[in-house]
Amino acid sequence: MTKLSVNINKVATLRNARGGNVPDVVKVALDCERFGADGITVHPRPDERHIRKSDVNNLRPLLKTEFNIEGYPSPEFIDLVLKVKPHQVTLVPDSPTQLTSNAGWDTKSHFSFLSEVLDKFNNAGIRTSVFVDADPEMVEYAAKAGADRVELYTGPYAVAYSKDKAAAIAPFVGAGKAARSLGIGLNAGHDLSLENLNYFYQNIPWMDEVSIGHALICDALYLGLEHAIEEYKNCLR
Ligand code: PXP
Repeated sequence: MTKLSVNINKVATLRNARGGNVPDVVKVALDCERFGADGITVHPRPDERHIRKSDVNNLRPLLKTEFNIEGYPSPEFIDLVLKVKPHQVTLVPDSPTQLTSNAGWDTKSHFSFLSEVLDKFNNAGIRTSVFVDADPEMVEYAAKAGADRVELYTGPYAVAYSKDKAAAIAPFVGAGKAARSLGIGLNAGHDLSLENLNYFYQNIPWMDEVSIGHALICDALYLGLEHAIEEYKNCLR
C-alpha cells in the first residue's frame, strides 16, 4: 500500500495571512487523519512563513499517524527534529529564501555532509529520507550515505505529463527500480495532483509514500477536505 502524507504548509500560509489562528493548523491535521490521510508532512522554514516551530511542537503529541518533517538540515532544523522525534525526516536541499523545493540533492557531491547528518537521525531512531531527482546514481549515493528512503522530486514529471506521460514516467521508474534493488524505501512528491497521481502509482506501485500539499489543498476548496483526501487515496489503488 502506498501511503498518502498530506503536506499542510498551505494551511499555515492561509492562517499566517491574517494573524490569529484561523484556520487552526493542528485541527486541520487531525481532520486530515480522520478523513483517511496516512500521515502529515510539514516543512518548517527559517522565516516561519508557513509552518512555525510551535506548530511542529504542538502537532507531535496529537498526531496518530506518521509525522514527516522535511527541510534543509541547518543546525536549527537538526535540533528541532532531534527534539521532536518525528517518524520520518526528509532532507531537502533548498535555501531559506526559496519559494519551494525545485531540485533534489546532488548526493554524490554532498556525500560527506549527508552521511554526517543522516548518522545523527539514524542514531536517534528517526527514519530518514533524502529528496533526489529521478537519477539512479543519486539514489545510489543516498543509500550509501545511510538514507532509509529516497523521495523522488516529481516536479519534472508533473510538467512533462500533459505532453507525453510515458516519457515523463520513464526516469522515475528507473530511479524507483534502483531504490528497490538497493533495498531502500521509496517516497515521491511535488506537484502530484488528481490528474497525474494515478498514472505515477500504476507505474511504480511499490512506492511507500507520496507527500502532497499544494494541489490537494487547492482541490479541497472545491471538493471539501474529506472528499479531496478520499479522491487522492483512490488514485493510490
Ligand atoms: N516534497 C517536498 C520535499 C516538498 O518540499 C514539497 C513542497 O513543500 C512537497 C513534497 C509537496 O509538494 P506539493 O505541495 O507540490 O504537493
